[in-house]
Amino acid sequence: MSQAEQWTVKRLLEWTTEYFKKNHVNSPRLDAEILLAQSLGCKRIDLYIRFSHEPSEAERARFRELLKRHTAGEPVAYLVGYKEFYSLPFEVTRDTLIPRPETEHLVIESLDLLAKMSGAEDLSVCDVGTGSGAIAVTIAKNAPKCRITAVDISNAALEVAKRNAQKHEVAKRIVFLTSDLLSAFPEQPIFDLIVSNPPYVSETEYERLPPDVKNYEPKSALIAAEDGMAAIRQLAEQALSRLRKNGFFLTELSPMIAERITETLQKSRWQQVRILRDLAGRERVAVAQL
Ligand SMILES: C[S@@+](CC[C@H](N)C(=O)[O-])C[C@H]1O[C@@H](n2cnc3c(N)ncnc32)[C@H](O)[C@@H]1O
Repeated sequence: MSQAEQWTVKRLLEWTTEYFKKNHVNSPRLDAEILLAQSLGCKRIDLYIRFSHEPSEAERARFRELLKRHTAGEPVAYLVGYKEFYSLPFEVTRDTLIPRPETEHLVIESLDLLAKMSGAEDLSVCDVGTGSGAIAVTIAKNAPKCRITAVDISNAALEVAKRNAQKHEVAKRIVFLTSDLLSAFPEQPIFDLIVSNPPYVSETEYERLPPDVKNYEPKSALIAAEDGMAAIRQLAEQALSRLRKNGFFLTELSPMIAERITETLQKSRWQQVRILRDLAGRERVAVAQL
């Protein structure tokens, strides 16, 4: 960025988008907008009515710093401290995975099943491995009659999830608990639906993940033993004794293990096992009924 040029919002966005493209950043324009809005302390949409505004030297210095860190691989969500999920902003920290758009399929399917199940009584839902609370909070927001329990093995992640529930005004309807999968619960039918985006990446796949994921996101949120299948298998087994009759189990998975997980579920007491695909057509969610 040269000193002589007029660095308006419009010019800064154009320059940064090109710079990110040359540096192989995945979503150059979007990232430029999010980082500039953060540096100016405004919403992304507000940049469009400020196109001819010239940010101060202090604002530009803040922007340059973010730009440098992002080009070096630090994810935008950690730089600005939030990520949109299901059209809601979620606080994220280095203790939580950054919620992914694919995970919205889990929420959509859960809401659909809950709507079909809903009767006179409130339904009880458990989100296992809640992380930032993205799944639990969006279900609570969109299914007002459900009571939700959200668990994680990481206390630091649970603190973030609680703040997100407060911010989105559903904290009263979600109980947060530290638990190794469902171990904290008695073997009794207490839930109508158990949903999870557990760790499902194998050691080999982990080594091949892009550096922005490997170097910044919590490893314990990603990796599972047995080729990525251990957490899902254990959870499916534990869910059998914690779900009510006809209750549902939904888990996110990777296409690499979809077939083997389907087989595991079918060999057990699960009924109507099916796999849902994400927008890229990849096998992404397993659904089963008790
Ligand atoms: C893939 S992340 C999903 C986070 C969030 N639900 C989402 O979709 O963005 C997996 C989460 O499971 C948690 N986790 C890992 N092992 C666990 C275990 N044995 N019991 C409970 N939670 C676990 C991690 O701390 C992490 O928050």
